[in-house]
Amino acid sequence: MKNAVIPVAGLGTRLLPATKSQPKEMLPVGRKPIVQYIVEELIRVGIHEVLFITGPGKTSIENHFGINHELVQTLREKGKEELLAELEFDRFQAQYYFTRQRQLLGLGHAVLCARSFVGHDPFVVALGDSIIGLHAQSDVVHRMQQCFDQHDCTAVIAFEEVPEHEIPQYGIARPKQDNDVFEVADIIEKPDLDEAPSNLAVAARYIFTPKIFDALDRTEPGKGGEIQLTDAIKLLLEDGERVYGVRLNEGERRYDIGNFESYFQAFTEFALADEKYGTLLREYIASLNRA
Ligand code: UTP
Repeated sequence: MKNAVIPVAGLGTRLLPATKSQPKEMLPVGRKPIVQYIVEELIRVGIHEVLFITGPGKTSIENHFGINHELVQTLREKGKEELLAELEFDRFQAQYYFTRQRQLLGLGHAVLCARSFVGHDPFVVALGDSIIGLHAQSDVVHRMQQCFDQHDCTAVIAFEEVPEHEIPQYGIARPKQDNDVFEVADIIEKPDLDEAPSNLAVAARYIFTPKIFDALDRTEPGKGGEIQLTDAIKLLLEDGERVYGVRLNEGERRYDIGNFESYFQAFTEFALADEKYGTLLREYIASLNRA
């Protein structure tokens, strides 16, 4: 599997005013912008071709993955080898592609924009606003690829157990088995608590065969008037297609950067775990608590 799609077209309204003129996917968490963690995670599991689904105001993402010759030359002249090494990611053995979602009709519609890029191959979808694991040290996409190779299925989705109050924010699965890898019987987008079949929430990583595009074509606008990816997955299940779930491991939590509460948590955890500044920050926070 060499292709991945990263939808980054959303307006990020829950993070205004921070996202008025800057994509939420470019907000830093610790030292790096969010999308860089995502691309690094994907390249580690063998992805070579990355398509970003972008929208207005997202050109800084494109710039981030291009090579800035002037910057490289200046750093080289000044002998800043350490900083040059930090920019290595823009030379990774990956090709980056960009296409626009011309109307913001929802995540499902954003994925549909990847149809001709993907062709006949299975592909990964990684949401542009979610990091998996501290410093993105997660191999969940690798485990999903293994699941996809072992089972005859149309989709594999990462799931995370979430506390009750978060259930109405996510797509929630009804699992067929109580295992780390399970077959999905049903999936419901942002259910009310009383209709939620479990606390297993979609965790921002998916593998699909191109059959998802036919399902997306048939998906009517759902919650919020948007074409929901979860509703298309539900259609696949209704067609009799097999969909599997892979649970995140303990300690492999999903950092959803889409709202300030979880963005602040992610930034704090990543900064506290920083090898150079983490200890100093811990001392600083302790001194604030003493004051
Ligand atoms: P969200 O629904 O969390 O993003 O989508 P949003 O619409 O930007 O957020 P708010 O509600 O206004 O704060 C998750 C991911 O899917 C992308 C977003 O960019 C984000 O990375 N997305 C969402 C699209 O690419 N297109 C869309 O139409 C919607």
